[in-house]
Amino acid sequence: MTAHPKHWHTDDRKPSPDHSHSHSHGDHDVDWEEMGTLLERGAELQIVALEQTASWLGELAGGGGAVSRVLDVGSGPGVATCVLAEAFPSAEVVAVDQADGLLDRVRARAAERGLAGRVVAQKADLPEEFDALPTADLVWTRDVVHHLGDQQGALRDLAARLRPGGILAVGERGLPLRFLPRDIGIGQPGLQPRLEAANEAGFAAMRAELPGSVSLVEDWPAMLAAAGLVPTGSRTFLTDHPAPLGMAAREQLHRHLTRLRSMLADELGADDLDTLDRLIDDGAPTGILWRPDAFYLTATTVHTARVCSGG
Ligand SMILES: C[S@@+](CC[C@H](N)C(=O)[O-])C[C@H]1O[C@@H](n2cnc3c(N)ncnc32)[C@H](O)[C@@H]1O
Repeated sequence: MTAHPKHWHTDDRKPSPDHSHSHSHGDHDVDWEEMGTLLERGAELQIVALEQTASWLGELAGGGGAVSRVLDVGSGPGVATCVLAEAFPSAEVVAVDQADGLLDRVRARAAERGLAGRVVAQKADLPEEFDALPTADLVWTRDVVHHLGDQQGALRDLAARLRPGGILAVGERGLPLRFLPRDIGIGQPGLQPRLEAANEAGFAAMRAELPGSVSLVEDWPAMLAAAGLVPTGSRTFLTDHPAPLGMAAREQLHRHLTRLRSMLADELGADDLDTLDRLIDDGAPTGILWRPDAFYLTATTVHTARVCSGG
């Protein structure tokens, strides 16, 4: 295993040999549009957790009626955008992303749900275009700030979009996706921690290579306070689909494992790569599409803060 893997992976990103969609200020190695299905199906599996999150944010905002505009910054395909539009029925919800193809998914998803009149998709490359975003009563952003070199600066820019009394909610980390028991009867037990270790090494390399990368203690409430906000609590929302899994979750795990096999090819030992091959073998009873022990367990931690009164 190399100390600084060239390729890296977490649940939500991938390197791509085709850099046509990459951006000078974002992640050079991620083709976000190509990840549309992975992002959308993954968020759909977390929909209950997203609804619980939106309900909590409604309480923090003093009831949904007080919220007339919500921003979903780095919305991806708009699963959370639509959950927020349903949770805040008087609000316009603005989905912001750099990827045109994902914004198209947001529009289609909103139209399918009868939300097109209240969901707006706005293209923006961050951090350069933070100023182009409208102000809002609630700003939601999940798994986006860690893709920006200066995370503290990003929180300051997000806070600047808040109206007086507004809430910023940042979903970062929680628990990584777990989906197999320790011993799966193939290869060495403990595959998942080894996959996570490889991911973490890649994540660190990704952060180090971002333009304007700043190292800091990732104490999100403290960072929100340093952005001039008053922290209003952190909560973790669990997604727990036990075995036996339905096909939607199995297909998502198949996508996830297929990406892992490709991304971590240089980082994992031959035994683990062979295990991954067998897990993504569509026809094998030991494959992820068929094995009875697969489950889908993960969690997102959401850190919140409010503009100080009079702020
Ligand atoms: C990991 S996905 C998260 C999507 C969604 N928030 C969710 O939780 O499912 C990160 C999203 O941020 C967007 N993004 C990444 N870097 C960005 C940047 N520099 N400017 C604007 N959007 C960016 C990507 O296009 C992608 O849709």
